[in-house]
Amino acid sequence: MADEKITNSIHRAELKGRDLIEVDLASSPPRLKVIGCADLLALVRAIQTQHGVQPGQWPLPKGTSHSELLVKELILRVQGKWKFPYEHLELCHCRRVETEVVDQAIIAGAHRPEEVSRQTSASTACGTCRPDVEKIIQFRLGSS
Ligand code: FES
Ligand SMILES: [Zn+2]
Repeated sequence: MADEKITNSIHRAELKGRDLIEVDLASSPPRLKVIGCADLLALVRAIQTQHGVQPGQWPLPKGTSHSELLVKELILRVQGKWKFPYEHLELCHCRRVETEVVDQAIIAGAHRPEEVSRQTSASTACGTCRPDVEKIIQFRLGSS
């Protein structure tokens, strides 16, 4: 989502109520907190084993599972390359759907606009917001 940096040293990515990955760069080595499913824990453990404890030096995961999308977000945040493509709080004005709700649905697996609409009711009226939904899907799933 937009910018959830808490301080300059703490970066996090989360699927609210399910998975959280957070790193504090102020401590050395960086303090990493991972809370969530076995999938996320296993992914982070595997990456750490192979690439070390500095999230800024991890390769971006190529897959699109929720765990991979969260790790990718964390890495990009740490690197200062997190550029979320939509900056307003509310994304769909007809249905009053917040950007965060759409983004979280995408992380959780709604990877096509139709799925996002079904799950969040975003872009089910005038359709003006649909390009923004598509932009966020592209941003989350794209290779950047
Ligand atoms: S603004 Fe989303 S459907 Fe109209
Ligand atoms: Zn999970």
